[in-house]
Amino acid sequence: MRPLLLVDDEGAFRSAVADYLTAADFEVRQASTVAEALEQLEGFAFDIVLTDLRLPDGDGTAVLEAARARYPDIIVIVVTGHGSIRAAVDAIRLGAADFVTKPFQLAELELALDRALERSRLQAENTYLRQQLRERYRLDQLVGRSAAMQEVFAVLEIVAPTTSTILILGETGTGKELVARAIHQLSPRAPERFVALNCSAIPEALLEAELFGHVRGAFTGAIANRPGRFEMAHHGTLFLDEIGTMPMPLQAKLLRALQQREIERLGEGRPVKVDVRVVAATNADLSQMVRDGSFREDLFYRLNVIPVQLPPLRERRDDVPLLVRDFLQRLGAQSVPPRSDVTFSQEAMRRLMAYEWPGNIRELENTVERALALSPGRPQIDVSVLPREVRSDKAGDRGATLALPEDGIDLEREMATVERVFIVQALSRTEDNRSRAADLLGVKRTTLVEKIKRLERLGLGLQ
Ligand SMILES: Nc1ncnc2c1ncn2[C@@H]1O[C@H](COP(=O)(O)OP(=O)(O)OP(=O)(O)O)[C@@H](O)[C@H]1O
Ligand SMILES: [Mg+2]
Repeated sequence: MRPLLLVDDEGAFRSAVADYLTAADFEVRQASTVAEALEQLEGFAFDIVLTDLRLPDGDGTAVLEAARARYPDIIVIVVTGHGSIRAAVDAIRLGAADFVTKPFQLAELELALDRALERSRLQAENTYLRQQLRERYRLDQLVGRSAAMQEVFAVLEIVAPTTSTILILGETGTGKELVARAIHQLSPRAPERFVALNCSAIPEALLEAELFGHVRGAFTGAIANRPGRFEMAHHGTLFLDEIGTMPMPLQAKLLRALQQREIERLGEGRPVKVDVRVVAATNADLSQMVRDGSFREDLFYRLNVIPVQLPPLRERRDDVPLLVRDFLQRLGAQSVPPRSDVTFSQEAMRRLMAYEWPGNIRELENTVERALALSPGRPQIDVSVLPREVRSDKAGDRGATLALPEDGIDLEREMATVERVFIVQALSRTEDNRSRAADLLGVKRTTLVEKIKRLERLGLGLQ
C-alpha cells in the first residue's frame, strides 16, 4: 500500500477516485483545499500526490511546490481542466511527474500512476544491473583485492540492501565516505537522495536545526521554513560523518529520531514521520568514549547494529599496486593531453608498498597525483619524484629487525614464518588457486602444497 494524497474540491469526484485507488492498493488520504493539503503534507510522508490545479483557496501548484520542497523525490501528478495544457506544462516544469486532463477515465489515471511508479522502479533496477556487472576486485567505487577488503565487500553486499543502521569505523583516509556512498548505491534507495552531514563541520548551536529543520521564527535568523537533513533524506540515506563529535544533548534527540522514525522541526512542536536509512562514520574509538562518558551508550548500541571496520592501508599492502593502477588510469585520463600506460618503476612501486601510509588511501592518491604531475611526458614514474618520507628506504630498518638476538633463534621456524607471509598473500591474490599462487611464488604446485603441510605441522597453519 503506497500512501497517496488526493486533493480535489468536488466531493463526489474525490470519493469515486479514492474508492478506485484504494481498490488499486493505494492508501488514500484526502484534502479539498490547498490549506488542508499543506496540513496533511506536514504531518505525513506521502509517496504520491494527486492534485487538481484549480482549488477554492488557491492554485494546485502551491501544493506541488510545497510537496516537492519538503520531499524532493515525491511523485506529484496534476489534474487540469480541459484545454489548460499550458498549466500542465508549467506544472511539469515545477517538477510534476505527469498530468491528466479532466474529464478522464479512471483507467487513464491509473496508467499515469503506473508510469510514474515504473519510472522510479526502473531507476532502482538500473542500479541493480550495474551492481551485477561489477568486476571482482571492485565494489562500486571501491577497489581492493586483499583478503581484508574482500571481506568488507562481502559484508557490504549483504547488508547494503537492508535498512539496517551501519557504523563505519576506520582511520582517516581509509575510505569511510566512499563506503557510505557504496552502501547507498547498492541499496534499493539508490534512486533517492544520499544526504551527508559532517557533524564536526557545523557549529554546535546550528547542528540541531541542520539535522531536523526549523520553522520560520524558531530562532533569530530563522527567516523561513526549512527542512533538515533527515527530511531531505526521506526514502534515501543519511550519512552522519564524524558522529563522535556530536554533542550529548543532540545525541539524545538523534536516538529518539532513530527509534521512533519521526522528527520534529525546531519550533514546530509536531512530529513528522520519516523513512531514512542512517549510515554513520567515525575515526574515534566510540566504545572508549562510552566508557569516558562522552558518548551515549544507548546511541552507540543503536548505531553499532552492523559495524564495518576499514583496515588501514599498511595492513593490506597488497592493495597498493591495484589502487595505484586505478588512480593512474583515472588521473591519466583527466590529464591534458590524456596519458595512458603510465606506470611506476619497479623500485618506485617497491617504496610505495613499503611505506606506512599514515594518511592511508587519501595520502596514496595524493602521492600518485603529485608524482604524475612531476613526470610530464614520461611513460615511467621514478623514485626521484616521490615525497621524501616515501622515498626513504625502510629496508635498512627491516635489516635491523633481522639482527640475530643474543640468545639465537629457531632458524627453521623463522624462515617458515616468512614463507607463510608470502604464501598467504599469494593465495589471497589468486583467490586460493594453488597453481597460480605457486607461479607467483616461483615454485612448483607440489612444492607449495608441501610447504603448506609443513606450516601446519609447525603450528603455523593458514587458517
Ligand atoms: N577502496 C578504495 N578504492 C579506491 N579509492 C579509495 C578507496 N578508499 C578510499 N579511496 C579514496 O581515498 C580518498 C579518501 O577516502 P574517504 O574520503 O572516503 O576517506 P575517509 O575515511 O572518509 O577519511 P576521513 O576520516 O579523513 O574523512 C578518497 O579520494 C577516496 O576516493
Ligand atoms: Mg570522511
